[in-house]
Amino acid sequence: MWLLWAVLASVVLLAAYDLTQKNHAILRNFPIIGHFRYWLEAIGPELRQYIVTSNNEERPFSRDQRRWVYASSKGQNNYFGFGTDNDLELSPNYVIIKHAAFPIYGTHASPKTAVPCAKILGSPRGRAKAFRPNSIVNISGMSFGALSSAAIEALNRGAGLAGCLHNTGEGGISSYHLHGGELIFQIGTAYFGCRDAQGRFSLDKVLELVDAHPVRAIEIKLSQGAKPGKGGLLPAAKITPEISRIRGIPMGEDCESPSRHTAFHDVDSLLDFVESLADRTGLPVGIKSAVGEMGFWRELAYLMETTDRGVDFITIDGGEGGTGAAPLVFADHVSMPFKTGFARVYREFARRDLAEKIVFVGSGKLGFPETALYGFALGCDMINVAREPMLAIGCIQALRCHTGHCPTGIATQSRWLMRGLDPTSKSARAANYLVTLRRDVLELCHACGLHHPAMISGEHLEVIDGQHRGRTVAELYGYEPDWALPCARDRSKVEHIMLHGEDPDDGAIPADDAAGGGSGGRDLPAGTSGGRDPTQARRADSGPTGHAEGRGDGIGGPSPGAGASDSGTRGSNDGTPTDPNATETQRSLKS
Ligand SMILES: Cc1cc2nc3c(=O)[nH]c(=O)nc-3n(C[C@H](O)[C@H](O)[C@H](O)COP(=O)(O)O)c2cc1C
Ligand code: SF4
Repeated sequence: MWLLWAVLASVVLLAAYDLTQKNHAILRNFPIIGHFRYWLEAIGPELRQYIVTSNNEERPFSRDQRRWVYASSKGQNNYFGFGTDNDLELSPNYVIIKHAAFPIYGTHASPKTAVPCAKILGSPRGRAKAFRPNSIVNISGMSFGALSSAAIEALNRGAGLAGCLHNTGEGGISSYHLHGGELIFQIGTAYFGCRDAQGRFSLDKVLELVDAHPVRAIEIKLSQGAKPGKGGLLPAAKITPEISRIRGIPMGEDCESPSRHTAFHDVDSLLDFVESLADRTGLPVGIKSAVGEMGFWRELAYLMETTDRGVDFITIDGGEGGTGAAPLVFADHVSMPFKTGFARVYREFARRDLAEKIVFVGSGKLGFPETALYGFALGCDMINVAREPMLAIGCIQALRCHTGHCPTGIATQSRWLMRGLDPTSKSARAANYLVTLRRDVLELCHACGLHHPAMISGEHLEVIDGQHRGRTVAELYGYEPDWALPCARDRSKVEHIMLHGEDPDDGAIPADDAAGGGSGGRDLPAGTSGGRDPTQARRADSGPTGHAEGRGDGIGGPSPGAGASDSGTRGSNDGTPTDPNATETQRSLKS
């Protein structure tokens, strides 16, 4: 009898612990039974090895990819042991990064090393608030509504800690966006957060928002890869009083996002819209779109070449991109995959010598070192990540985002499920993931003998076709020499920043950078690069991470090597995490 009581008491104690701990959303939401997930995960590799899938099979993200994100976000050892389990020779479209015979000599890159954008955003068009983004990796748009308040707060805090920009998504700016991460305000087709009572676009509302919040740039969303050409519907049941206030929509009625904008109707009026936003706010203004028919892009490039109007940045989202909810056929078949779509668009602008004046941003499963590098090889200046940082803050790829019943409290408005997600500890995980990705991309560049991802061109990557033949990315996508690279001056400036930790212009926009009627030589606003950020004033290669065994060197994680449950064999990252906490992260970044 006493044994039964002992078991019962242990179960009650465990349940109490699960409900009060803040490290694992699953356990907080599902005390006791949540442990089965960890037990199954622990024995999963052995089971799956024989009966289910391989390390690279699952989609959208394979087990290897998820494990890499989980380990990186916990500041654990993200190495794998024994060698690759991929078939390098026989896998079609297998990407090979061509290392240099003489890589960059020196210590390992540190996660604390800032890797700023090689271009100054908004500078070529003389925008008053042009700036050099601090980070080549930033958080892609996901709105409050699609994500919970706790998830938005975790991502925003994480962005702040990692020195990244946080795109608001089309759902407007909420108080959860105001925890340290600077914002890109996204304007979607429903103009949430900047619409009048009739649902029309309101420039005055944009001005109010921009004045009151840390907005660094504006992105006009034309489409996203997972559901281009399709509007969205937020059902009345999901519209809480808070969402109604933030989005500027009535309660008790379904809210439709139309499939296209009403504030402009063609490329010409889009450019007028861009210029009026940029003039009134002083901010850089860009567009986000998936790639379908090419007429739009040809006309945009043509009008930018022949008139004095233009966008400051272009975000290309791949058809493989994520969404809160989309019809299957749209997710599966509408719009080009990232590489094909991006290369088509880039070529239109490169042919007209416009590519150097635009900041190109890519998204669509680019949140891993090799996929990010592929983006840079095609001409990306920065990459955006969405679902990968969701994995970092606890997403288990349950694929139930559209149901409102996300078990990890990320893609839901249920207070009960959200309760499990502690924004403070998860923000450190998001930050660890972001800085580790940045560090690993930088290390790949070092292996190629380069100081910054902007110097990666289509010649540095080769794609093997499974038949023992390889073609460079430049060959595959018809790139000419020098395409995918910033101009020589931008390259030499960013190299200077990486080597000396300071901007040679000391934050000022060089006069000959200003174009399109703007005046040059203005100071960048406080908080931009040029060594002002605490992470900025470090040499690119000054990260004292020590030897390869210790990869637990994230900004919020345990000390190098700690938390690495073994020497890096597959499966080593499933151990109990040493949870980082934000206070430690803050301290670490300031030191
Ligand atoms: C839950 C969720 C919500 C999203 N909401 C938006 C949005 O509001 N606006 C937008 O432009 N893209 C949105 N996206 C798309 C992402 O910003 C991103 O472009 C896409 O997921 C590709 O990046 P990834 O492969 O790193 O996830 C959303 C994606 C997800 C997963
Ligand atoms: S529903 Fe599943 S895939 Fe979507 S955020 Fe939650 S855990 Fe991740």
